[in-house]
This record gives sequence, C-alpha cells and structure tokens, in this order.
Amino acid sequence: MSTLNTHVLRVGERLSGKVAVVTGAGQGIGATIAELFVDEGAQVACVDVQAENVHARASALPDGRAIGIAADVSDEEAVVQAIGQTVERFGGLDVIVNVAGIAGPQSKAGDTTVAAWDRTHEVNLRGTFLLVKHGLPHLVARRGCVVNIASALALVGWPDESAYGPSKAGVVQFTKSVALDYAPHIRSNCVCPGAVRTPMITAVLEEYEDPERALAEYGSIHPLTGRLAEPIEIARAALFLASDDASFITGAVLPVDGGFTAR
Ligand SMILES: NC(=O)c1ccc[n+]([C@@H]2O[C@H](COP(=O)([O-])OP(=O)(O)OC[C@H]3O[C@@H](n4cnc5c(N)ncnc54)[C@H](O)[C@@H]3O)[C@@H](O)[C@H]2O)c1
Repeated sequence: MSTLNTHVLRVGERLSGKVAVVTGAGQGIGATIAELFVDEGAQVACVDVQAENVHARASALPDGRAIGIAADVSDEEAVVQAIGQTVERFGGLDVIVNVAGIAGPQSKAGDTTVAAWDRTHEVNLRGTFLLVKHGLPHLVARRGCVVNIASALALVGWPDESAYGPSKAGVVQFTKSVALDYAPHIRSNCVCPGAVRTPMITAVLEEYEDPERALAEYGSIHPLTGRLAEPIEIARAALFLASDDASFITGAVLPVDGGFTAR
C-alpha cells in the first residue's frame, strides 16, 4: 500500500531526484516535456528515432541532467538497450513518458494500406507497450509511474483517421490495463491532447488545400481557446501526472483539449 506524502512539492523541485525516460523527445511535445522535467529536477533520457535531433536537444539541456538516445520505439532490442543505458547512466528509473508517435495516413479504412495501418500501430501502440514492458522492473523497484500521450482522437471519432484513432484508443486501454495489473507498485495514466502546435500538426495541415484555413478550423474545435494548444500546455499535464502530486491517481485518462471532447 502506498503511503501519503504530505510534503508540498515546490515549483522547480516537483521531480527532484527522479529519473525519466521521455520518448519522442527530439521535437514537439516530447522535447518540451523533457525540458520541463529537467527544470523540475529530473534526470532525463531523451529517446527518439531522429538521432541528430535528439542528441542536439539533450545536449542543450543543463549539463549532466539529460542524455540523448537514438532508438526506434517499435524495435524491441533498441528499447531494451535504451532502458539499460538509462539505468546504467542514472542508477534507476522512476518515470516513463511515452510520447513518440506518428500521425499515420489521413485516410478512410478502405483507402488505408495494410503497411500504413501496421506502422501506425507499431509506433503508437507497440512502442508504448515495449517501453512499459521493459521498463517495468525498474519502475516497480522505485514505485514509479507511466504517463502515456494518447490523443483526443482516442476518445471521439474523426474523419480520415482510420489507423491513428484506433492506435491511440489502444494506448488508453493499455494505460488502464497497466494501472490495474501493477497497483500498488506503479501508477499508469494518460493524457489525451487536442490539436497541438508541433511539427506533426504542421505536416498534417500542409496536406490540406488551404493550410491557413485548416489551421483556423483545427483551432476552432477547442471551445475554450479557439486555437491550438502549445506543447507546454500538454507538458504541464504530464508533469502533474508524473509527480507525487498525483499520488492517488492511476488509470486516469486526462483530456487536455480545450473542451473538444466535452461536446
Ligand atoms: N500535435 C498534435 O496535435 C497531437 C495531438 C494529440 C496527440 N499527439 C501525440 O503526441 C505525441 C507527440 O506528438 P508531436 O505533435 O510532438 O509530434 P512530432 O512529430 O512533432 O514529434 C514526434 C517525435 O516522435 C519521434 N518518433 C516518431 N516515430 C518514432 C519511433 N518509431 N521511435 C522513436 N521516436 C519516434 C519523431 O522523430 C519526433 O521527434 C504523439 O504521440 C502524437 O500522436 C499529438
């Protein structure tokens, strides 16, 4: 049974002494989470398939607090090595944040190739599973936690998202499965962002005939703001779930979507 920590966490110390693996940390939401976690006292292993990006990001963080690891999260051997390298460097592991993901094809089921469906699931769902599977013994040893970045599109349907939506819905269910199977040893939660201003969404918008108009339309799906989220708004939710402030929270699915899925 977990004991209540009554200590009030101070800003700048909310992950003090913790070691985190953040995947997809080469750009976008993952890079922002890695930076925020370091600002809050964590040591962070930044993992990404884009080697140059992730090494540059990690080396821009304060000395010794972050390492960059080039790995494809869908490759089991690469994931085992990434976890091993993290533990060897920092002496353990407290938090896994699964951010690495791909948008997949913008297509209806009939037009989605089997290869595109498989790759979307390999990265978004299998990758999340592999990090958790191989990180678990370390998390259990230190009463750690998992934070998965799913999507608002895991919770509602959206046209032409026949592969991405299901892959992210799988992440939501996997989050709950881990929460139940590994309580009281670890916590497992997920964040479901609305549309966020990152290279991923820019690439999606560029597929539209009029990207400016598409940007305005994507912004308008969020009743609270009428704009896209900034990566830091997702990172703050991940920080909360990763910290001891969330000591009574597991199996939770937290929409950070400006009210999009409240409709
Ligand atoms: N941007 C959005 O609107 C939005 C909305 C909801 C959920 N999300 C989710 O948030 C996460 C981050 O998205 P983002 O917008 O920052 O995307 P992004 O494309 O800007 O960044 C994703 C990062 O993941 C890395 N990556 C991709 N495949 C990988 C693999 N096989 N192994 C390791 N790393 C890999 C990429 O190299 C990249 O650095 C994704 O899981 C995405 O599905 C994004």
